[in-house]
Amino acid sequence: MSFTVAIDGPAAAGKGTISKAVAAHFGFAHLDTGLLYRAVGAKVLTGAEPIAAAEALMAEDLEADNLRTPEVAQAASKVAVIAEVRAALVAFQQTFARRAGGAVLDGRDIGTVICPDAEAKLFVTASAEVRAERRYLELAAKGHKDTREEVLADVKARDERDTNRAEAPLKAADNAILIDTSDLSIEDAVARAVAEIEARLPA
Ligand code: CDP
Ligand code: CDP
Repeated sequence: MSFTVAIDGPAAAGKGTISKAVAAHFGFAHLDTGLLYRAVGAKVLTGAEPIAAAEALMAEDLEADNLRTPEVAQAASKVAVIAEVRAALVAFQQTFARRAGGAVLDGRDIGTVICPDAEAKLFVTASAEVRAERRYLELAAKGHKDTREEVLADVKARDERDTNRAEAPLKAADNAILIDTSDLSIEDAVARAVAEIEARLPA
């Protein structure tokens, strides 16, 4: 049996946190699709050509340890506007989504482009200020020196680029369930997601 949960939303909305918890709850596999674009972005920062880097992407590239920096995030959102880069990453994501036993994918275009037939679609969001503060605290805890202002600027610049691009822009699928986490604890956001997915599981 396959069962796909698509979780989309802007930067630092809580997609990854909810995805991991939901995957653990239901025993589904989880793919953070942002890592694919971050891995391509990281290669471009070292001089690679974006389309060739996307076509040659390998599983171990997703484990590089610099992928969570704001610099790589920016590079990711720049390569993510290129149609051929996105096209090179589609098959891997769709195969993952339909693996036996269930899958959760989080990103920007999962419910709209990658898995329009997903059984459950969530659009997770929060205000830019709340998202930037969360990402700032997360980076600071890992020893990064980025200031609050820099993190907010990164989040806003990516939101803008991701929302306004021609190819697979960030937007909620028509049938997505909206979860605004601005005033939700992680526990409450996860509980909400679990309940929505449970209601869509086959009997
Ligand atoms: O995957 P995405 O970039 O959407 O966000 P994330 O990495 O899951 O969450 C960003 C940060 O916000 C993490 O440090 C989470 O612990 C935190 N968070 C939160 O404080 N409250 C929530 N309801 C969800 C996430
Ligand atoms: O964790 P956060 O939400 O900050 O970013 P991410 O999910 O790792 O995504 C990094 C960048 O990759 C985004 O700003 C998008 O430009 C791009 N991306 C995309 O275009 N499509 C996806 N399905 C996932 C990420």
